[in-house]
Amino acid sequence: MILRPALAGDAADMATIHAQSFEAPWSASEIAILLASPRGFGFAVAEQEALSGFILCRLAADEAEILTLATRTHRRRRGVAAALLRAVRGAVTAAGARAIFLEVAADNLAAQALYEGQGFVQIGERRGYYERRGSAPMSALVWRLDLNR
Ligand SMILES: CC(C)(COP(=O)(O)OP(=O)(O)OC[C@H]1O[C@@H](n2cnc3c(N)ncnc32)[C@H](O)[C@@H]1OP(=O)(O)O)[C@@H](O)C(=O)NCCC(=O)NCCS
Repeated sequence: MILRPALAGDAADMATIHAQSFEAPWSASEIAILLASPRGFGFAVAEQEALSGFILCRLAADEAEILTLATRTHRRRRGVAAALLRAVRGAVTAAGARAIFLEVAADNLAAQALYEGQGFVQIGERRGYYERRGSAPMSALVWRLDLNR
């Protein structure tokens, strides 16, 4: 498993993994624009040339935000997402961040187990935040990891 910064050249692969993982797709160009922006950054795990997973974030002042995180379907439960979160934590701590925030769908128990295991705590809820095809809107839970600086 090779963990490295995400590059604009990864955008197409990241868009494919994102489409496997979420109802609302992100295009490769949207991902490339985010990575090219001054505050946007990410990490990727590469195995056998293809990406296994990636994380995209934004750092503003002393707060970091995880914008998206996904592992390729057949490479899940092998520590990819946990490694990506640790990489973000190290990078934003070194850059002076005091906390990392993220939003997760209330019914996404796999991601919540992941975040809880990494020390994140739930601090709020946004009701009806996610539109869902054919079902009622779903709340977003807001989670924070305090970096204790
Ligand atoms: C959530 C997701 C990113 C986890 O990726 P992953 O690479 O499989 O996660 P890891 O292997 O690093 O798992 C680390 C820990 O998280 C928890 N976890 C991960 N997937 C889980 C699942 N399906 N059910 C319960 N716990 C889970 C476990 O505690 C796991 O440790 P363990 O395997 O030793 O039990 C992946 O399932 C995914 O891409 N889902 C779709 C996209 C998504 O929901 N992204 C997050 C949006 S907020």
